[in-house]
This record gives sequence, structure tokens and C-alpha cells, in this order.
Amino acid sequence: MEWKVPLFEPDLGSKEKQALCDVIDSGWLTQGERTAQFEREFSAYIGSAHGIAVTNCTVALHLALEALGIEVGDEVICPSLTFVATANAIRYCGAKPVFADITSLQDWNISKPTIEKVITPKTKAIIVVHYAGYVCDMAPIMQLAAQHNLKVIEDVAHAPGASRKGKYAGTWGDAGCFSFFSNKNMTTGEGGMVVTDNPGLCQRTQRMRCHGMTSVTLDRHKGHNFSYDVVEKGFNYRMSELNAAVGLVQLEKLKVGNERRKEHVAYYRACLSGSQNIGLPFLTNDSDAAFHIMPILLPETADRVEVMTKLRDQQIQSSIHYRPIHTFENYREQGLGASEDLTHTTVVGDRVLTLPLYPSMRNEQIEQVCDALIKAV
Ligand SMILES: Cc1ncc(COP(=O)(O)O)c(C=O)c1O
Repeated sequence: MEWKVPLFEPDLGSKEKQALCDVIDSGWLTQGERTAQFEREFSAYIGSAHGIAVTNCTVALHLALEALGIEVGDEVICPSLTFVATANAIRYCGAKPVFADITSLQDWNISKPTIEKVITPKTKAIIVVHYAGYVCDMAPIMQLAAQHNLKVIEDVAHAPGASRKGKYAGTWGDAGCFSFFSNKNMTTGEGGMVVTDNPGLCQRTQRMRCHGMTSVTLDRHKGHNFSYDVVEKGFNYRMSELNAAVGLVQLEKLKVGNERRKEHVAYYRACLSGSQNIGLPFLTNDSDAAFHIMPILLPETADRVEVMTKLRDQQIQSSIHYRPIHTFENYREQGLGASEDLTHTTVVGDRVLTLPLYPSMRNEQIEQVCDALIKAV
């Protein structure tokens, strides 16, 4: 399909190409010095002491959970209105995802009151997701976690560079997990990062990323070590130098890209504000958001497939973020989400529609999308 307005468009160019050529010329493709530089520069940007680059955000979440000691039989609270990776990562540990409802039809993030309702004696951690790039109300969540001795992991896949009260998303909890998948605000193709201020957690995460080994291949290549020991459970979750090199270029573009997104969201809101039956979430969110996607709430009476089809007829791509996780067959079969009250999540899951959003969009394109949407609705 030739889209006139695609859902997203990555911002890739000659600098990324050159960075990839430089890596190939260097003769070292696996985790090495560029990865270390990407970790330093990304974590410094986010305001975190340490960054651990990994293969993607799904394994970043798994690694963070493992390194924080989540194990079989534990419960971990997360939203159901998120990409399935958030809950899958919990299941990798043999733990049970327990879903907290979103706060309201205006605030689609989980929050202290919705988390509090699903805490049990088995709860060990919370994964918050900063949906669409709007930062959760973290101060009360951190207070609640401290009261119940719970670990907090932030799924920051949508929110690189977002902040709330001057503190960046990813630096509130014990660990923050980022995605550099193709459609994210910055991309390395596939890629992820764990950030943390805790040096012990950083060391454990680094070791677990590479088979639980005490040295990595580059150390041995450089003659720093002849051998290694394996001191804990481990995985191969390393990032390659190719991904890291692209990440360094993309990081330079993040701030401007997020500013463009903010302008586009403001224009969308202005174009749609006259249409009372189209719901615009997060209008009262007071974070400095990363504006990853542009979700709207369709009126109860609208047929979503029909609306998406009418947009497609005009070569406008749209999507759904998300079908709630607890409604997927495999989750239902396991009884996951069966006992939680997910009233608001269900409404949003039924009526959410995601409109195109990316930095290089033009105002005429936003007008086209809004005209087509209003007519379709
Ligand atoms: C909220 C959220 N969490 C986790 C992920 C998983 O990221 P990755 O594709 O890098 O594994 C995504 C990716 O789309 C996401 O949107």
C-alpha cells in the first residue's frame, strides 16, 4: 500500500549510513567501544548514572526483572493497555502479570489508586508504562512502592526524553527500559537500554546480559583477560556495534524530533477540538511528554473498522494501541487478568484509534487526517 500519510516514518539519513560504514571498517561488530559510548551518552542524556545496551526493550524488561530478583510465583503489576512485551517479560521469569486499570478515560496511565487495588502479599514489583510518551504520576507510585517494599521498573519504550517535574522518565524507578525499535522516537532498527542509578544492579544486569560471565569477548580480544567464570544465570542480550553506531546519531536528533512531535500534537488537538465526539486523552497530563503516538478515543457509536477503512481509502494509515493484553487468547487461557477490574482499559481498548505522527509530518497532512477522520466518524 502506498500511504499518503503513513503511521510513522523514521528519520534516517547519510549520518547513519556513514556510522554503519565506520563500524564495518573498524572490523569489530559485536558489543564494543561504540556500544559503551552509546551507553554513556544515552544515560547521561536521560540523567541516569548507568546504561546497559541490549538487543531490544523486551529483553531489557526481562533482564531488569531478573536482576531485581523476580522469580517463579511472584506477582508483578503492570497495565493491560500496553504492548504485550511488557507482560510477556514478566512471564519469562515464571512470575504472574497482574493488571492495574488505567486511571480514567482522560489519563490512560496506571496510577497509585489503580495499582493499590491489585497489590497482594505476592506482589514484588510494578512495571509502569509511560503510554504514548506521557509520564505517569510517579511520585505517589514511588511512595506506594516504598510502603509495600516493591521494586519499580519503568517501561520507557514510548517516552525517551520525556520528563515530569524536571525528572526524566526512566530515572524514577529502580530501572528504566527503553526501546529503539523502528517506529520509536529514536531507532537502532532493533535495540534497547536499561538505565539505573544503582551500581550493584548495573553490574548484575551487565553480567546477566552476557551469559553471567565475568568478562566479555572484547576484553579477551584486547588481551585483558584469558579466561572467565560464570557467576550467575545469564542470557545473550548484547547489542551490536552497528545498532549502537546508529543509536549515537539518532540520540543527537531526539530533542528536535520530540519538539516537532509536540507541535504536531498541538496542531492535531486544535484541528480536532471542534469535534466534540472525538476524545483527546492526556489534555491534563502535566509532564513534558515525548509524544510517541497520537491516540484518540472514538465515539461509542463509531465502528472502528469502518473508520480505519475510510482512512485507508484516502491512503491514511491508522492503528490501534492497544488491544488490551488480558483479551488475548493465550492470556485468557491462562486466566491472566480474569479477576482484575479493568473497566477503563476495556473502554479504551474498544475505542482507541492511533493517528499518524512523526517529526517530518506537514501541517497539510495533519489537516488531511483530521478532515478524513471527522467525515468518517
Ligand atoms: C510499551 C512497549 N513496551 C515494550 C516494547 C517492546 O520493545 P521492543 O520491540 O524493543 O522489544 C514496545 C515495543 O513496541 C512497547 O511499545
